[in-house]
Amino acid sequence: MPRRIINNWKITKGVPLTELDKKVLYFQNHGCLVPKRELIKTPEQIEGIRRSGIVNTGVLDLVEKEIRAGMSTAEIDRLVYDYTVSHGAIPAPLNYEGFPKSVCTSINEVVCHGIPSEDEILKEGDIINVDVSTILDGYYSDASRMFIIGKTTPEKEKLVRVTKECLEIGMQAAKPFGFVGDIGNAIQRHAEKNGFSVVRDLCGHGVGLAFHEEPEVLHFGRKGTGMLLVPGMVFTIEPMINMGDWHVFIDEDDGWTVVSEDELPSAQWEHTFLMTESGLEILTY
Ligand code: MF3
Ligand code: CO
Repeated sequence: MPRRIINNWKITKGVPLTELDKKVLYFQNHGCLVPKRELIKTPEQIEGIRRSGIVNTGVLDLVEKEIRAGMSTAEIDRLVYDYTVSHGAIPAPLNYEGFPKSVCTSINEVVCHGIPSEDEILKEGDIINVDVSTILDGYYSDASRMFIIGKTTPEKEKLVRVTKECLEIGMQAAKPFGFVGDIGNAIQRHAEKNGFSVVRDLCGHGVGLAFHEEPEVLHFGRKGTGMLLVPGMVFTIEPMINMGDWHVFIDEDDGWTVVSEDELPSAQWEHTFLMTESGLEILTY
């Protein structure tokens, strides 16, 4: 039985093939998963996502300037909301599938999707991920950074550094007409070489016209697997790296907060990227 081809890259009879069509069809006809045409952003869409990314970066820069011990995560949420709205944008998390706040704040053993709260006060030695996503004129961007509150332990410092390196190494591994799996493979190698583990249950994602689009960007796995990377695709890479084991659970109290099973610290860094003819460009710098 021949392998069934997933006909994502559709061709209309009578319409001449472009060089790009020929290239993508070659991969599709060899059984590779290729993107649907809609995933290739137009120059106008890319400009829209870029502008959204500029607001998103402004939010993270503000948080970076203001974050300190003694501050509640609810105060971070207010900073994010006020800055975003005053720049004509909308915080994407707010009311997304029932999420109650404008930003995710994930401290220490919280892997991601932590909900800001008045009762949660940052203290010396905490490591926190602040995950900001913005909608501007209908265009989505998504990025997160880690912040170390005061001085922390060498182990937590290393976790934060290695996780940032994982994002950079994943970015370097992504080549036009390579595969999404090349990214995850590079990230997993770097994390495990440093004695850490890669969270399996959550992944990066296409982004731009919606919060979460195809493809899924796994942060582990084999080279040459997953979707073909075609110039014009926009997606996040957002490795979640655990100090201990990779297993996680969702706190049933709120249905959102993802926590490491062994309750050891976890870190995450994220950017939104555009695939170009020569590699990835960061849209959330
Ligand atoms: N910002 C997260 C991401 O990277 C998504 C958070 S969903 C929310 O995909 F509802 F929790 F905000
Ligand atoms: Co994301």
